[in-house]
Amino acid sequence: MEDFLVNINGTLLKGPEAKISVFDRGFLYGDSVYEATRTFNKRPFRIDQHIDRLFLSAEKISLEPTYSKEVILSEVLKTIEAAPFKDATIRIVLTRGTNSDLGLDPALSGPNNLVVFTKEIKPNPAWWITDGVSMIFFQKKIEASGSLPKTGNYQENILANREATSRGAYDSFMINTHGHVTEGTTSNAWVIKNNILFTPPLADGVLDGLTRKALLEMAKRQMLPLPLVEKSLTKDDFLSADECFITSTTRNVVPVTKIESHLIGNGKPGALTLKLLELYLEFVK
Ligand SMILES: Cc1ncc(COP(=O)(O)O)c(C=O)c1O
Repeated sequence: MEDFLVNINGTLLKGPEAKISVFDRGFLYGDSVYEATRTFNKRPFRIDQHIDRLFLSAEKISLEPTYSKEVILSEVLKTIEAAPFKDATIRIVLTRGTNSDLGLDPALSGPNNLVVFTKEIKPNPAWWITDGVSMIFFQKKIEASGSLPKTGNYQENILANREATSRGAYDSFMINTHGHVTEGTTSNAWVIKNNILFTPPLADGVLDGLTRKALLEMAKRQMLPLPLVEKSLTKDDFLSADECFITSTTRNVVPVTKIESHLIGNGKPGALTLKLLELYLEFVK
C-alpha cells in the first residue's frame, strides 16, 4: 500500500492516506467497474481502449458514468505524471457512487467515485520464462455468455484463484457451464496445436482482453508466425496442446507448462510462445 500513489476524485494521495466512504456502493455491493493497464516508459498502454472498455462494462451493468471519458483520461494522465514511476501498473475503478442509505436502489447514490491507483510495475519473474507457470481447471457455477463486463464482483474468479494457490498452482483456467474453457481468473487463455494458435471466443463468457485484442490485430496484419483461430475449447484441447499460455496487459504473454498434473509439450515454455511474447512486446512498446 505504501508504494501506491492514488487519485480519488481528482485528489492525489499516498496509498495509506487514500480512503473512501463505507457508504460507497463499490464497498457495499461490488457495484463498480474497473480497468487494469500499465505504462511503458510513462506512456499508458492503449489507454483509450481501456477507457472505452470501462464504459462498455458500465453500460452492461447500467451504471451511468457521471465522469466523461475525457475527464477520466486527464485524471489518469495527471496520476502518471505525478508518480515517479516509468513502468507502472494503473488501476482505474469507477463506482456507482456513495449511497445516502443502505439499500440496493441506485437512486440512493450520489455521483460516481473515480479512483486511479498507480505503483511501479516490476518485470515478470524470470522463472515464468524459464519454467512457465502451472494451472488447474475450475468449474464455474454462474452461467455467463458473451463478452463479460469487468466489474467489482470477481467472487468466482477469487474462488478459482484461491483453489489454484491452495493446490500449489499459479492460477485456474475457468470452465463455463457448457464445459468450455473460458479464461484465467485475470487473463485470457491460449493453446497452440499443430502450429495453429487457438483462443476461446468471447461468446463463451470471456473478457475482451486488450492483450488478446492486440494478438488478433497482429494476426489480421499477418504479423504472427502461425494462423489464429477463435474456437470453443475443452479441457482436452488444453491437455493435448503442444503449447499453452495466458495473456494480460500487466503480464504480457506468460507460458503455461503444466495443467493439473499434466505437462504441456515437453514441460518447458514453447518456442512459439516465446516468439509470440517477443513479437507482442515489439508491437506494443
Ligand atoms: C477475467 C479476465 N480475463 C482476461 C483479462 C486480460 O485482459 P487484458 O489483456 O485487457 O489485461 C483480465 C485482466 O484483468 C481479466 O480480469
